[in-house]
Amino acid sequence: MPSVAVLGAQWGDEGKGKIVDLLTPKADVVARFQGGPNAGHTVVVQGQQYILHALPTGVLHPGKKAVIGNGAVIDPTALHEEIEQLRARGIDVKDTLVISRKAHLILPYHRAMDVAREAFRGERRIGTTGRGIGPAYTDKTARMGIRFADLFDEALLHDRLQANLAEKNPLIQTVYGHAGFELEALFAWCLEWRDKLAGYLADAEQLVRDAMLRGDSVLFEGAQGTMLDIDHGTYPFVTSSNTTIGAVCTGLGVPPSRIDHVVGVAKAYTTRVGMGPFPTELLDQVGERMRTVGAEYGATTGRARRCGWFDVVMVRQAAWLNGFTSLSLTKLDVLDRYDRIKLCVAYEYKGKRFEHMPDELEVLTNCQPHYVELEGWQENTLGLTTYDQLPAGARHYVEELSQRLELPVSIISTGSGREQTVLLRDPFAS
Ligand code: IMP
Repeated sequence: MPSVAVLGAQWGDEGKGKIVDLLTPKADVVARFQGGPNAGHTVVVQGQQYILHALPTGVLHPGKKAVIGNGAVIDPTALHEEIEQLRARGIDVKDTLVISRKAHLILPYHRAMDVAREAFRGERRIGTTGRGIGPAYTDKTARMGIRFADLFDEALLHDRLQANLAEKNPLIQTVYGHAGFELEALFAWCLEWRDKLAGYLADAEQLVRDAMLRGDSVLFEGAQGTMLDIDHGTYPFVTSSNTTIGAVCTGLGVPPSRIDHVVGVAKAYTTRVGMGPFPTELLDQVGERMRTVGAEYGATTGRARRCGWFDVVMVRQAAWLNGFTSLSLTKLDVLDRYDRIKLCVAYEYKGKRFEHMPDELEVLTNCQPHYVELEGWQENTLGLTTYDQLPAGARHYVEELSQRLELPVSIISTGSGREQTVLLRDPFAS
């Protein structure tokens, strides 16, 4: 059975949660491979809204294995809270959730450093989610991180915490003005969470490998989006992990040749939260209307999302970087009431035309978008379920995007519910 990756093509919040939820019945395993509780995957099931942060969307489906891979970073307190919230709503992940023993922990000092560093940066802040993601990945790369597996070697754990605090406390106290962290309290905190989460820990890479060799279907659930990738995004206004296709391989131990389909998810327009360049941003009433109609407020932090027109330059780049085999277009209904709709097809900076994303921050920040204009359809698409039902203008918009991106469209989302969907091709069937 095939494996399918679902990845964001923009700056996150593309509606991946809904697409993953929709495809999950076809999968045996749903696996996260990067990021952490910075993500906010909103899923509406039978009118009930669930917002998942660290947990794979697969947990909402009984019987599916939900895996958090080695490439993710995990805040035990936040994860536990999420598990308990689901339990209170009748969903128990005891037998379905598996966490890689190689995944790194987000420790209390990571969260404190994330928040303090943002405050310290002031005007130059990134606008992080404040969940400790950056400092946790920094420690991983600096070879001073703590993995779940390390919690079982108490001498090693104590020694590493001691060494880490010797470096971190002076920085936290002197530069950030924080009280700092106490070794024994932190050590006890680690052991407490080891014991509470031990039942979920396993060799997740082996589990995924065995599942694939057995012929099970695996769904790889991306978090954030391509333009937040640490290498290929709008650096430094990015997250701290790779969000693109290679992260499936490194974050779960899966060979690239085993990924059969890559579904890119893009909104019918563009949004971003946090700071950083956004060439098609609309700071006027047109953008305000997208925010209101699309309920564009962050699922994790509640922050208002910045809104703008669809950027073909950006999504084309995402299509190449990830090898998208099809596009899933979400929130088409939000554009229902516009008389004209714009598509950005190039940027211009100081007389030079760019048809690919420039790597210089100055260019990306100050370039002018070149638009083509299409007529709006001004008819309702909310909840439509077949392509033929879509107004001609909406079909034209979808076809224009598909042509310019050189990608077939597999799924069109016309509302937040599972059933509010036009399924053109099933990625698991093709
Ligand atoms: P961090 O991932 O918390 O370090 O935040 C870095 C940047 O990524 C900020 O601009 C965040 O707003 C953004 N970001 C992180 N996770 C998400 C997400 O799930 N959706 C949208 N933006 C995100």
